[in-house]
Amino acid sequence: MEMIKVKNYEQLSERATNIILETVNNNEEPVLGLATGATPEKLYENLIEKNKNGEVTFKNVTTFNLDEYVGLSGEDENSYRYFMNKNLFDHIDIQKDKTFIPNGLAENLELECEAYEKLIKSHGKINVQILGLGLNGHIGFNEPGTPFDKRTHIVELDDVTRSANARFFERLEDVPTQALTMGIGTIMEAEKIILLVQGEKKSAILHEVVHGPVTENVPASILQNHPNVTIITDIDIK
Ligand code: GLP
Repeated sequence: MEMIKVKNYEQLSERATNIILETVNNNEEPVLGLATGATPEKLYENLIEKNKNGEVTFKNVTTFNLDEYVGLSGEDENSYRYFMNKNLFDHIDIQKDKTFIPNGLAENLELECEAYEKLIKSHGKINVQILGLGLNGHIGFNEPGTPFDKRTHIVELDDVTRSANARFFERLEDVPTQALTMGIGTIMEAEKIILLVQGEKKSAILHEVVHGPVTENVPASILQNHPNVTIITDIDIK
């Protein structure tokens, strides 16, 4: 794993922006794996700016998001579809029908997961996958204990994750209890992975991810086995 230690959130976002620009500019039909959460917000802001000033076009880009809550429509302000439209897709020249996010309202969630996998496969591979890190070490919504070989699947969100994400909802009870997420098996097939980790509160878990054993109890620890991972962080990790 390559570690890039930055001074602050601006630098973290800038480094991630440059990697995305390089990927988009060097591929004819780039495929990006995207994440939600607070961490990539500034990266998306930068991409909008670079698109507006002509440094990059997203015309030929396809995107796959990691996850979505079950039970929320794309118009719901807390859905990840809403987040992505608002923070990125609505402001760049991407073709909206090339932006994919699991459908948390699908009648048959199992089939939705299978279809999502097929869709990713039909695009070859994800060139760069952006990941955030949950406080419990989750990536996407792969909670501790999730088998490493899982593909896109339905998850029961654990209490740590629901409380961490409650800041976006009016009440804790409003946070969905289930989500659809790319599995770790899916994520590990990306050509390159960028893990963005910001803030001291993630220091202990990041340490485990980097130096601890590769264990399903710390989902992101599997990244130690991926050939092309870059961690960009403002945390001091020896
Ligand atoms: C959420 C998302 C993850 C995200 C993580 C970290 O639960 N499902 O994809 O990476 O939390 O979020 P943040 O960047 O806000 O800390």
